[in-house]
Amino acid sequence: MKLFLDTANLEEIREIKKWGVLGGLTSNPTLIAREHSDIETHMKALCAEVDGPVSLETTEETADAIYEQGLQLAQVASNAVVKVAMTPDGISAGKRLADQGIPVNVTLTFSPAQAILAAEIGATYVSPFLGRLDDVGADGMYVLREICEIYEMQGYDTLVLAASLRHPMHVIEAAKAGADVATMPYSVFTQLVKHPLTDVGLEKFLSDWNKLQKELKEGVH
Ligand code: E4P
Repeated sequence: MKLFLDTANLEEIREIKKWGVLGGLTSNPTLIAREHSDIETHMKALCAEVDGPVSLETTEETADAIYEQGLQLAQVASNAVVKVAMTPDGISAGKRLADQGIPVNVTLTFSPAQAILAAEIGATYVSPFLGRLDDVGADGMYVLREICEIYEMQGYDTLVLAASLRHPMHVIEAAKAGADVATMPYSVFTQLVKHPLTDVGLEKFLSDWNKLQKELKEGVH
């Protein structure tokens, strides 16, 4: 399972990139709006910073306008992926874009039925939003598992990109369900590396090591 960062913040990308595990990036209009910078320049910077696919979302609402905007977003960089919303207009535009070989990510997906539509238009990614389903009392992980099972059974090529992940358990469960990608905010990415026993263990190793160095210097050994 590839690990993507869900952000439009360049500092966060640079931090995680140093770990060598960043597989790609997802962004959305809310995340881009938070950055308060020139949109096109910022999108180019995001694509330049990430060695992997970068999802850039369309904001138009009719099929023709989404299609035209999708063509423009695809031109931002060679690693750009065009995000379209799971609406009749979104999938209609997404199909036209996918037919032209443009990678498409169908976002705001909340059910297996919607995920089947995403696969049928030839999308590269489908993005089920787990956390937002949990927020309304549904079971996001159950929906993800169903999508993965259907895709496996049908032999669909569309990759399942588990989105709206809120904590490390979401990431673990997405991996167990067979998701191809997990995208998460910086706060969740940084939680993946943390464990209190790692901190305690490292502190003990270093203090024993430093004690030995001191004793060697003093000629104790
Ligand atoms: C993914 O592409 C979305 O940008 C993201 O996962 C949404 O997450 P949220 O529900 O935490 O806003």
